[in-house]
Amino acid sequence: MQTNVTNVLKANPAAIAAAGAAIRAGRLVAFPTETVYGLGADATNGTAVAAIFAAKGRPRFNPLIVHVKDVAQATEYALFSQQAEKLARAFWSGALTLVLPRRPNCRLSQLVSAGLDTVALRAPTHPVAIRLIAEAGVPLAAPSANLSGRVSPTSARHVAEDLDGEVDFILDGGTTPLGLESTVIGFEDDKPVLLRPGALSREAVERVAGPLGTPRQGVVNSPGRLATHYAPRANLRLNATSVVPGESLLAFGEDVPAGTHRTLNLSPRGNLAEAAANLFAMLRELDATGAQAIAVMPIPADGLGEAINDRLMRAAAPREVPP
Ligand code: TXA
Ligand code: MG
Repeated sequence: MQTNVTNVLKANPAAIAAAGAAIRAGRLVAFPTETVYGLGADATNGTAVAAIFAAKGRPRFNPLIVHVKDVAQATEYALFSQQAEKLARAFWSGALTLVLPRRPNCRLSQLVSAGLDTVALRAPTHPVAIRLIAEAGVPLAAPSANLSGRVSPTSARHVAEDLDGEVDFILDGGTTPLGLESTVIGFEDDKPVLLRPGALSREAVERVAGPLGTPRQGVVNSPGRLATHYAPRANLRLNATSVVPGESLLAFGEDVPAGTHRTLNLSPRGNLAEAAANLFAMLRELDATGAQAIAVMPIPADGLGEAINDRLMRAAAPREVPP
């Protein structure tokens, strides 16, 4: 949907009320969550949901997350097993998305599920997101507010870089605190499986749910995971312990190799939460310098390191243009 004029508004109560009215009128609004910025529309309005896919250039087989207020609202749309309810009670509101069977005849547009019989639900904890859901009075379908295949936005400026003219409002709520997308959990034979590592660590989920399974081979569990995602223009070289001429450096920790004038450090003190919060903004910033290649230092695999390494591997993967 080409609206031509995008209003970037500081997310005060009046702006959120106007954005809520725009959502009810079937328009698109970008808003901050605790993870990344979302591109929101009324999840019960198929035309509005279709406009999200068009604005992002997102393949129609990739379903969207529906953002709700709480577990009670989520049960209007999806069937919660005991396990699912336990996870929601432990981690909502927060950076956990649950993929659950759709309730028969639920009000959500079929398009949010991209033809699957499941729906992904999450209750965000960011005050602007909470207020927008309340003002809109409808559940919000919202993927990350980037062009399909690009790095997720952690600031209003990132959203404007990708989607100016495509959305009615960008609510500016500052930099998103976590900086990585939510952790997506599905269920197979009632056992939780990790569909996407994210801002809630595997260890935290496993303390409540027990060991997480790996999705069955050959089953398209989280379709968005098939396309190349998070791709900067520059090539990424992972696990770099030195830099070669022409490379920029994305560093981690204090032992930074010399030899490049362009270095950004995800976390000089080696803190994974800080690195997660900085990851997408620093990838965008290094990419904007026009460097041919970005060398990335090794990141530990534990805790949030699992999701950070997942995004880096996707960013480094050979480019495929999604159909
Ligand atoms: O933190 C987040 O999750 C952000 C904020 C805005 O909430 N949203 C986000 O949405 O990252 P998106 O659309 O970029 O990623 C959603 C992921 C995709 O990998 C998609 O395939 C998966 O969730 N997903 C959505 N619905 C699904 C479903 N019914 N079954 C399996 N996977 C699903
Ligand atoms: Mg995304």
